[in-house]
Amino acid sequence: MSTWSKSSWRKKPRIQMPDYPDQAALETVEALLARYPVLVFAGEARRLKHHLGAASRGEAFLLQGGDCAESFEQFSSDAIRDTFKVMLQMAIVLTHGAKVPVIKLGRMAGQFAKPRSAPTEVVNGVELPSYRGDIINDLNFSPEARIPNPENMLRAYTQAAATLNLLRAFSTGGYADVHQVHGWTLGFTDNEKAEKYREIANRISDTLDFMSAAGVNSDTAHTLSSVEFYTSHEGLLLEYEEALCRQDSMTGQWLAGSGHMIWIGDRTRQPDGAHVEFASGVLNPIGLKCGPTMTTDDLKKLMAKLNPENEAGRLTLIARFGAGSVGEHLPRLIKAVEEEGANVVWTCDPMHGNTIKSSSGYKTRPFDSVLREVREFFDVHASEGTVPGGVHFEMTGQDVTECTGGVRAVSDEDLSDRYHTACDPRLNASQSLELAFLVAEELTARRDQEKKKAAG
Ligand code: PEP
Ligand code: CO
Repeated sequence: MSTWSKSSWRKKPRIQMPDYPDQAALETVEALLARYPVLVFAGEARRLKHHLGAASRGEAFLLQGGDCAESFEQFSSDAIRDTFKVMLQMAIVLTHGAKVPVIKLGRMAGQFAKPRSAPTEVVNGVELPSYRGDIINDLNFSPEARIPNPENMLRAYTQAAATLNLLRAFSTGGYADVHQVHGWTLGFTDNEKAEKYREIANRISDTLDFMSAAGVNSDTAHTLSSVEFYTSHEGLLLEYEEALCRQDSMTGQWLAGSGHMIWIGDRTRQPDGAHVEFASGVLNPIGLKCGPTMTTDDLKKLMAKLNPENEAGRLTLIARFGAGSVGEHLPRLIKAVEEEGANVVWTCDPMHGNTIKSSSGYKTRPFDSVLREVREFFDVHASEGTVPGGVHFEMTGQDVTECTGGVRAVSDEDLSDRYHTACDPRLNASQSLELAFLVAEELTARRDQEKKKAAG
């Protein structure tokens, strides 16, 4: 640990990062970013860590969601508002089921860099470097577009700052006041889940009326009129992360100033690699993706490296095995955690293990597989006696057709209608809400189980 610095990752093997052809341009951008204000503050990151500590004990539940990749082209205040709104709705449904606070954590305001399964892409016999996210290169299929351009980092920073500014305004400026619970219904008029949501909203309104009659209202109870909303992204592009890494003047600790939580992807979690090195030295809560190839040995090394003090809330393990594979992998990783006596938050990402190519050629995720992986995750925790601490979704408030299935069934043929993602397929607003109801049911079942146990 004593050898860590914000640039010590540079001495470690790195993968999934671009080789910038113009080093001078890269250094100019790094120097500029290093003078810009951080986007998040140390106190906020600590507060999130504190909440995650509660989630590790089952006293809170984490809802992490947003785009696979934020994009420059699709950046708009409506898109941010709609995703924020769906997350509030989902949080209401989850709080109602879990009866514990729901931690709202966006994959937003920095989720730009993407790891890829292949370094190049072939279209009609032409081979070009892969698209790596708007912070690195351009999605257009031309040789110029695919050259990594360091100046994209400045645009990503600006977009992240504007996004956060809007999220902060939504969180505290009245929009997220729980009295607006009916106003967050988006355009769902015709489906059964919307009806179920309205029932919960009615019950909440009744309770609020009662509280107001009893003298408790938004003025006297600040928590009713605002929410805490946090941001997260994969800490993949380490030049960007380093430039925004700053020392907290109060404690001397280092903060990744680019977002409240950063996570390490399933492809870049080598215990001696650059990404783990960078994350190990910052004070933020850290996420770690755990796919089928995660060995128990590596997990133990990673826990020791990323959370040597065994601090509650510091480390979130994001399980992403794929439907049908959870039973094979989750128990062995839970065992490794228990053997080390490690404090972790277990969350379920039912997206990244369930990506397939549809018959119409689109990359998609069947909603049924997503649901199934969530169920398997809860079942394993129930039989192991451990805590399912949260969920991690790729989703949007827009009415896209990227994942198949759901109540308003999207078919393989429908995918082309509104397939807008720059990277992986996202759940649309109605699929997201449907999933929240399922998770709420699982949480209610778990709570009933616990009560029964406590009653003896
Ligand atoms: C992602 O979360 O977008 C991602 C690439 O995930 P993973 O590292 O789990 O594949
Ligand atoms: Co993704």
